Amino acid sequence: MSDLQSIETDARARIAAAATPADVEALRVEFLGKQGSISGLLKTLGKMSPEERQSEGPKIQGLRADVQDALSERREALEAAELEARLAQETLDLTLPAPEAPKGSVHPVSQVMDELAEIFADLGFSVATGPEIEDDWHNFTALNMAETHPARAMHDTFYFPEKPVDHALDQGERTGRTLLRTHTSPVQIRAMVERGAPLRIIAPGRTYRSDSDATHTPMFHQVEGLVVDEGIHLGHLKWTLETFLKAFFERDDIVLRLRPSYFPFTEPSVEVDVGYATEGGRRVVGGDGDAPGHAWMELLGSGMVNRRVLEFAGVDPDRYSGFAFGCGIDRLAMLKYGMNDLRAFFDGDARWLSHYGFTPQEQPTLSAGVGAAR
Ligand code: PHE
Repeated sequence: MSDLQSIETDARARIAAAATPADVEALRVEFLGKQGSISGLLKTLGKMSPEERQSEGPKIQGLRADVQDALSERREALEAAELEARLAQETLDLTLPAPEAPKGSVHPVSQVMDELAEIFADLGFSVATGPEIEDDWHNFTALNMAETHPARAMHDTFYFPEKPVDHALDQGERTGRTLLRTHTSPVQIRAMVERGAPLRIIAPGRTYRSDSDATHTPMFHQVEGLVVDEGIHLGHLKWTLETFLKAFFERDDIVLRLRPSYFPFTEPSVEVDVGYATEGGRRVVGGDGDAPGHAWMELLGSGMVNRRVLEFAGVDPDRYSGFAFGCGIDRLAMLKYGMNDLRAFFDGDARWLSHYGFTPQEQPTLSAGVGAAR
């Protein structure tokens, strides 16, 4: 049938001449679409006699399949050529700088803990640790805090249920009730029990009290200091604190005021104030607190280790004496780096951290200047 042949010749020539995938699509519509010429031929089958249909049907179906194949072949070839051309044109500039990966920063509390470890390492102290989940023997009893001491009350201390449910928490020779340690002082006991005397340690870490307002958070940080040796006296305590605070605040004009106080675990007990000035609404540590424009600020609690505490920890109080101090780390960080809201320390706000945080590459060392890492 010449109709069939002329359609086939025409289709093959035009498919071969199609220049883009869009041209191919237009040809598909023209031949195979609803109004297409091959579709038109198929419709003529209905009016044919059975004999005619038997001879013509397969020819028309064959033509449709051939044209379909020719169309897809041409489309694939054109698409491949397009891709080739694009690849040949596009080049990758390997010299372009890669986007910077997001970097974390060191929290000011961690930074200050590192600084403390550096400063005290130079004075011969090692860093000791203890569990945050303590028992009341280490946290209270061995520190000479009587059963009736108010700090043991529920409104100050977070206690665990009478019988710990999770026995994995109950390791070691824990006695009595389990609680979140209310200070770092139990590490004094653990260090003396484990290592005996003489001893020089600091113990930075988390502490917990049932307290929450603008200047108190239920979790906060302390650093404990403990020196036990023969002949240790209050003068050693004062010199050590002065040397530490001069290095920490990077000033020579640190003036301390020692006030008599009371802690069950020290005798005598001393509260230590530091002189400061207010500059531009900010507290700047340094100078005599009694000088004009200056005032005193309470910084830490300390004293000579009570001989009963030495006895509890198995250290001979007739041979050894010691001093101890406990200081809030968060306060130290706020004073040194000029932050004024304690709660922001624990909000986990990435913007706050990127502003006040330190880069991990710049670890503080005494030789490089403590606090120079900014
Ligand atoms: N543990 C005391 C507190 O948390 C501080 C302190 C430590 C006092 C060591 C004296 C000696 O307040």
